[in-house]
Amino acid sequence: MKRIVILISGRGSNMEGIVKTCAAEGWRAQVAAVISNRPEAAGLRFAAEQGIPTAVVDHKAFGKGDAARAAFDAELARVVDGFAPDLVVLAGFMRILTAGFIGRYEGRMLNIHPSLLPAFPGLHTHQRAIETGCRAAGATVHFVTAELDQGPIVAQAVVPVLDGDDEAALSARVLQLEHRMYPRTVRWFVEGQLQIVGSRVRQLAGEAQLFVA
Ligand code: GRF
Repeated sequence: MKRIVILISGRGSNMEGIVKTCAAEGWRAQVAAVISNRPEAAGLRFAAEQGIPTAVVDHKAFGKGDAARAAFDAELARVVDGFAPDLVVLAGFMRILTAGFIGRYEGRMLNIHPSLLPAFPGLHTHQRAIETGCRAAGATVHFVTAELDQGPIVAQAVVPVLDGDDEAALSARVLQLEHRMYPRTVRWFVEGQLQIVGSRVRQLAGEAQLFVA
């Protein structure tokens, strides 16, 4: 049984998709904990209702600055390690993590970012895609490395940007595919089907690493 720890900050719809798919498909894995940096994160309630242990490490309690960030990450690592994860999944986790934290989970921490990386790292990705005149947008699942929103790409999902799209419409279209792609990629990891070769990630069973609308 592989142990998955999921970090969230808010709604948690990707976390929910992973929890449900894990149960529905009978993965040889369990979501061992859902941890949030925000006590009010809506996703915590869903997790608790499923009987999944939850925890909060509130970043606001640590103050600001580099020392506070390091202290927060040390506490987060202590809590995460308490659940002995094989895989750490960032699902809408809105904190920049220190290199020390990331190094601890190297090769076993995934993130989903709502753009076709390397385009639009950071925030407000859908708005920026619309303003740039992009005809395609999407989301990327990648291994987490010390460089923000970089790291080997596991899979990408692509959707059209339509005339008249606003941020809400585009993000809803992308999110539908995120909910297909993220559970699938997590399953690949727990089944040992991902291999990092240089900067590329191979799906060893030959499944498509591109998801289209
Ligand atoms: C998703 O769009 C994800 O790509 C981004 O933050 C959003 C989280 O949504 N990292 P949810 O909390 O999973 O519903």
